[in-house]
Amino acid sequence: MKTVVSLQEMQNSALRWRREGKRIGLVPTMGSLHEGHLSLITRCREQVDIVVVSVFVNPIQFGPQEDFASYPRDLERDATLAEKAGADYIFAPSDQEMYPPDFVSLVKVEKLTERLCGASRPGHFQGVTTVVAKLFNLVQPDVAVFGAKDYQQAAVIRRMVRDLAFPVEIVVAPIVREVNGLAKSSRNQYLSREERAEALILYQSLRFAESLIRGGERQAADIKASMTEMIDSVERSRIDYIEIVHPESLEPVEVITGDVVIALAVFIGKTRLIDNLLVHVAPSS
Ligand code: PAF
Repeated sequence: MKTVVSLQEMQNSALRWRREGKRIGLVPTMGSLHEGHLSLITRCREQVDIVVVSVFVNPIQFGPQEDFASYPRDLERDATLAEKAGADYIFAPSDQEMYPPDFVSLVKVEKLTERLCGASRPGHFQGVTTVVAKLFNLVQPDVAVFGAKDYQQAAVIRRMVRDLAFPVEIVVAPIVREVNGLAKSSRNQYLSREERAEALILYQSLRFAESLIRGGERQAADIKASMTEMIDSVERSRIDYIEIVHPESLEPVEVITGDVVIALAVFIGKTRLIDNLLVHVAPSS
């Protein structure tokens, strides 16, 4: 297992692997790896000859009041975990090389980024698509694996790949949860013991919403009202958004007539957590 920090070395190696006919897989991460990331690496390993895990806390996807400075960083630990999960290379570039002072090029996906996390984190998705496009150019992957917890991110990246014709297959792997249902996230480590217990309300409210739909409820507003009441009953919670959207367009759905994604972002104390659930609904039901 090798750690590459230089952009030039990464791209030269990737171009050489391609000339040798090797299939390259990329798992983009911001480090602080947990079982969710490891499942992406395992998934990638099954599909390619060379697995590259990028570890880069991308400054341009954080807002000024967000946790860029305090985001957990431990490259040695990440490298050990990534290797165990089947990675061949860690790519850990510096901020300075990724964004030199005269860097002025940005990639923006419109429409899909206007709602949900895009509405509460202005500029976030532009930061994500810019760094992912740059990583694609540096690592030259045939396959890139993302997690379904960031549902909107995966949809935005899929659209960028389609619109800009990147020759890369996007794989989205399922959310990994703790036994109690809490979605694995690097930000879970910010939670106190009490907050961790309170954070279970995210998944519980999603499952409750699903049960309402299974029971025949079709009015999104009523489902969101029930979820709001449930989450508000938790002391340290503050809802950022709850949305019921079309799985591809991410447009809000008023009356449920087919598959929907229920997505939410909720602060537990100071920590903003996201989660989502895809609910399959037969068109006639
Ligand atoms: O999902 C993440 O960890 C980040 O948004 C990504 C895709 C690595 C881009 O910085």
